[in-house]
Amino acid sequence: MIEIENVHKRLGDREVLRGLSLNVPKGVNFVLMGPSGTGKSVTLKHVIGIFRPDAGGVRVDGQDVPAMDRDELMNLRKRMGYLFQNGALINWLTVEDNVALPLREHAKLASSEIDERVHQVLKLVGMDHAAKQSPPDISGGMKLRAGLARALVTRPEYVLYDEPNAGLDPIISTQIHELIAEVRDTLSVTGLIVTHSRACATQCGDRIGILEDGRLGLEGSVDEIVASDHPLARAFMGEGAD
Ligand SMILES: Nc1ncnc2c1ncn2[C@@H]1O[C@H](COP(=O)(O)OP(=O)(O)OP(=O)(O)O)[C@@H](O)[C@H]1O
Ligand SMILES: [Mg+2]
Repeated sequence: MIEIENVHKRLGDREVLRGLSLNVPKGVNFVLMGPSGTGKSVTLKHVIGIFRPDAGGVRVDGQDVPAMDRDELMNLRKRMGYLFQNGALINWLTVEDNVALPLREHAKLASSEIDERVHQVLKLVGMDHAAKQSPPDISGGMKLRAGLARALVTRPEYVLYDEPNAGLDPIISTQIHELIAEVRDTLSVTGLIVTHSRACATQCGDRIGILEDGRLGLEGSVDEIVASDHPLARAFMGEGAD
């Protein structure tokens, strides 16, 4: 379980998070929505210990993340995949080498074991056929799939997804959302998903929290938020929301 409790964080001259609390129970995809610049990515960075809160707590399975030393953070990050916007692949490495990176960095595995794991996750995301291609030669949707494969290759218990459908057309987006739901269901991965997209929230989310003024202005199950008259729910989930 990911627990964020009353977190405050000032960056530059802005108090970005002002008492943010949210819980992501095991096995759930929690969708974090909110306008641009409200601190969604900053929230994810607290969960993997890139940022430390000025006040408040961040815990993963009861472990205090801000108190972790370097080795403890490395261990946490082995258990936690991170899907960056647009996949964030390294252009001069092939898809399979990009996906293998976290295993080469973290795990002491034989190269045959690494190969096997890489091709297993590439198959899972439907990218096995493109293993030898380079990021500049593949489409945006394929880059995201490769990024997802890289996030999954260490067999994490948690994955943090930062805008997993940014820049993708609705058909490819739907495929990515289905994949995120499948990863939850078949690999028991717990997800924290940042998105602006109603389609993303409804197709792969279980709970939704909407950021406002540095804390959750609204939280509920997907069905509750879809049915809610709250202005934040209408803004993100109503007719006209994308
Ligand atoms: N390393 C940093 N140093 C200073 N300010 C930062 C840093 N990272 C983020 N910020 C500021 O924190 C605020 C929240 O940023 P964040 O990236 O979390 O927004 P976001 O909700 O993810 O927005 P978007 O939807 O556009 O991605 C912004 O005002 C941003 O400028
Ligand atoms: Mg962001």
